[in-house]
Amino acid sequence: MGSKTTSREDVLQAIQAAQALAQEYLNAGTATQEDRYEISTAAMDMTNACQTPIDIAVRIVLEGPCASAALRVAIAGGWTDVLNQQESVTADELAEKCGGDKSVIVRIMRVLTASKLAREVGHQTYASTPVMATLLHPGMVDMFNHSTDTVTAVLCKLPLYLANTSFAEPSSNGTGPHASTFGKPFWKCLEAEPALNEAFNRGMTISHEARGIPAECFPFDTKTADLKLTAQDVFIVDIGGGMGHQTHLIKQKFPSIPGRAIVQDLPHVVEHASSNPFPGIEYQAHDMFTPEPVHGAAFYFLSAIFHDWTDGPGLKILEVIRGAMRKGYSRLLVADWVLPDVGARMADASQDLWMMDLTDDRAAQGMYQLFDDNIDLGMFVQWGYHSRVTCALVPAITSKNR
Ligand SMILES: C[S@@+](CC[C@H](N)C(=O)[O-])C[C@H]1O[C@@H](n2cnc3c(N)ncnc32)[C@H](O)[C@@H]1O
Repeated sequence: MGSKTTSREDVLQAIQAAQALAQEYLNAGTATQEDRYEISTAAMDMTNACQTPIDIAVRIVLEGPCASAALRVAIAGGWTDVLNQQESVTADELAEKCGGDKSVIVRIMRVLTASKLAREVGHQTYASTPVMATLLHPGMVDMFNHSTDTVTAVLCKLPLYLANTSFAEPSSNGTGPHASTFGKPFWKCLEAEPALNEAFNRGMTISHEARGIPAECFPFDTKTADLKLTAQDVFIVDIGGGMGHQTHLIKQKFPSIPGRAIVQDLPHVVEHASSNPFPGIEYQAHDMFTPEPVHGAAFYFLSAIFHDWTDGPGLKILEVIRGAMRKGYSRLLVADWVLPDVGARMADASQDLWMMDLTDDRAAQGMYQLFDDNIDLGMFVQWGYHSRVTCALVPAITSKNR
């Protein structure tokens, strides 16, 4: 069955392909994010070629879930804090400082060192790694906890949910995988549980580092030059903008663009954001399914919003924004995931599944169809870092009929 190995020629070919890429980047002296992706894919192909199918199956079935659970335990036990504060720490010290059975600490830390999340620097002695330190950053640790406590809980039920619905796309009517696991839709759970809400908001403030940053992709300066904005004009309305982190990055990158920057979100999110606001940003409680209160802004900006909704709610969002746009002046700016037709990255494909899991969204490509059917796409252009974009920007499109 799974003991069949890849042929010697295939293994050599995979090693040579990875080596050739590595040499190319060594010669060039620099490697972009895209280059690093290319070489890590080649290295992964190499690993897969060296392993038997059963090795790979074990990795997926056994190792992945255990590494994630072990890290969650280590965070919950407070061990990761100690690991990050000290050069190295023994299992005895961890038990003494944090409590718990040493034997449990050893079993969990064994998984973390074997999976390279921690280092084994001696007998039952451990050290942190850059990956562990990154996973513990505020925001990142919130996203990790969100992944294990919420997303994974729903993912476990997804097969049954889809089997029971004859594998139909979930719809946004509050009966999707999240609601069937937790009793209510995701956004309603956040509204009801302040700690969950704040953790998710913090998580969103760092997630753009993995998905791409609109401020880096879109030329806000040249695209506002002809508008002759004044300080009283509204430069940007960031709808569903959470803590205002994207608008903050835009203002940082383009400090000379005049005009007001308004971040809108649900009341409980605005309350959280207002407790630690970014400078120069106005926060406004607004439900994006009700008429847009700010008329005639230069940009109506939606970042990581459309992937949360199916076509019905998506259309409603477009309609209310259209009602506020000034003809020939206002622009709708959308930043979202767009998966390629072939060769999707694992991270992007998984992100898409998270969205089905949490918010019953349609696949990302549906966004294009939604726009195509409803918006004049004369200026429909995709902005992004590279050809295999994680974050695609659909800039400066004016609504049809206006
Ligand atoms: C995936 S987050 C995106 C946050 C931010 N735009 C970003 O790019 O990081 C989606 C945001 O939509 C907000 N949201 C959900 N339903 C909303 C509604 N009905 N009206 C306004 N905002 C809403 C959530 O609170 C959350 O902040």
